[in-house]
Amino acid sequence: MTQPAKLTVVALDLDAIAAATGRVAVVVSPEGTLGQAARRINRLSKGALARFVESDAFEEMAEGEAKDLAYPAGMEAEAVQVVKLSNQASVELARKAGATIGGAVTKAGVLVLPGSVKRVEELALGVALKHYKFSDHMGDGPAKDIPEVTIAVTKPESVDLSTVEALSDGVFFTRDLVMEPSNILNTTEFANRLKALETLGLEVEVLEEADLEALGMRTLLAVGQGSTSPSKVVVMQWKGGKDEAPLALVGKGVVFDTGGISIKPAGGMEDMTMDMGGAGVVAGVMKSLALRKAAANVVGIVGIVENMPDGNATRPGDVVRSMKGDTVEIINTDAEGRLVLADVLWYAQDRFAPRAMVNLATLTGAIIIGLGHENAGVFSNDDPFCNAFLKAASAEGEGAWRMPMGANYDKMLKSDVADMKNVGDRAAGSITAAQFLKRFVKDETPWIHLDIAGVALVKSPTTLAPKGATGWGVLALNRLVDDMNKEA
Ligand code: BES
Ligand code: MN
Ligand code: ZN
Repeated sequence: MTQPAKLTVVALDLDAIAAATGRVAVVVSPEGTLGQAARRINRLSKGALARFVESDAFEEMAEGEAKDLAYPAGMEAEAVQVVKLSNQASVELARKAGATIGGAVTKAGVLVLPGSVKRVEELALGVALKHYKFSDHMGDGPAKDIPEVTIAVTKPESVDLSTVEALSDGVFFTRDLVMEPSNILNTTEFANRLKALETLGLEVEVLEEADLEALGMRTLLAVGQGSTSPSKVVVMQWKGGKDEAPLALVGKGVVFDTGGISIKPAGGMEDMTMDMGGAGVVAGVMKSLALRKAAANVVGIVGIVENMPDGNATRPGDVVRSMKGDTVEIINTDAEGRLVLADVLWYAQDRFAPRAMVNLATLTGAIIIGLGHENAGVFSNDDPFCNAFLKAASAEGEGAWRMPMGANYDKMLKSDVADMKNVGDRAAGSITAAQFLKRFVKDETPWIHLDIAGVALVKSPTTLAPKGATGWGVLALNRLVDDMNKEA
């Protein structure tokens, strides 16, 4: 498990600055006005800070960026990191500045001096989210020296980090699940880690293969039947609301996707350890909701399977019956995510009659061709609900772009032997996948499908995450939960 940095808020003590070891991050406004703490650093360093702030180098820095003054005279610190940020900075810039600090934190820790910046919590969230490294399987295992991040402000009682911690714990949970290799995060281990969330007050049930068989979840089971790891569905309920129907969050949890008999090429196949990313986001959101005791009813349901080739594996051409009752001709066993989701979506509606439903899945390579790694693909049957999500995602800086759906795309799923086939042709691959899912969504259920194949795991850093698992979606869905309850 990756532990977020330890964040503490203390009263600003100017006399402690000289003796602070590790790093010192000091915020300076774009106009170059030095606050109390900055003036002290300037005095200690015999004017070095003011010289830097008056330089072209400072002038050319964008807001949220920083430069190091290394081993400053008159101080114990390794470096003074000068962060450019205005006092009234937006949420986005405050987080970006925090991330700049978090990305530079060493195990010696950092003393953060935000001066008169208003959004100290957002700054802290940026620090926490950016300082992430999955090191469980390196050297001696999980990093033991968790750095201390001390935020010194004049009114410490006005800063509350409890939400920041709930969110960063949720995002880290998602990232760790996504980073974890599939020999460790097999279906049983995944279910166990979700079961452990019960200590936070979530109700967690694990449905085993016999239960899934009894429910008629044959499309889900067809994906897992080539694996020695048993298929499971995990239901996580957070009952923090009154008696309203829950919001349902559904996730694709393919712990590894070889493609099955329609096997994938070897190059890059190792990336398919992240094919449980949708379920990982659902788990992260549920954890955050529980940690911050959200006043809402939310149920998270994930289908956990492994897609392997084997003597017992599903063959191309096999026809299976879904829990809904519709039959599917499995043309391509690599289009497995939609088979998992079909049954879980149906189960979610059948059991919980949710007020609305969002599913997340690393569903198609085609969405990466279309949108790259900047935006998740958003598909929906309900404009107001979709707009509410897009608004929440934009407020959290999580890229999301709505894609079209329509009956003409749906025609591409026609089968000669079953009610539908599981793939169209190459054209509009992400949209036909969404059309397939829509067949398992009741008309009266407001629904969003998020294709996160491009955003769950990235090869270069984003604003709030180092390269690797991002945890994309945890913040947006956490916000959507609150927005939906405000309007209700
Ligand atoms: N898990 C993959 C999609 C994926 C690709 C996720 C790249 C992350 C990165 C999914 O199960 C898959 O294999 N989709 C196929 C669908 C095709 C067979 C219709 C694809 O995208 O090629
Ligand atoms: Mn696949
Ligand atoms: Zn897959």
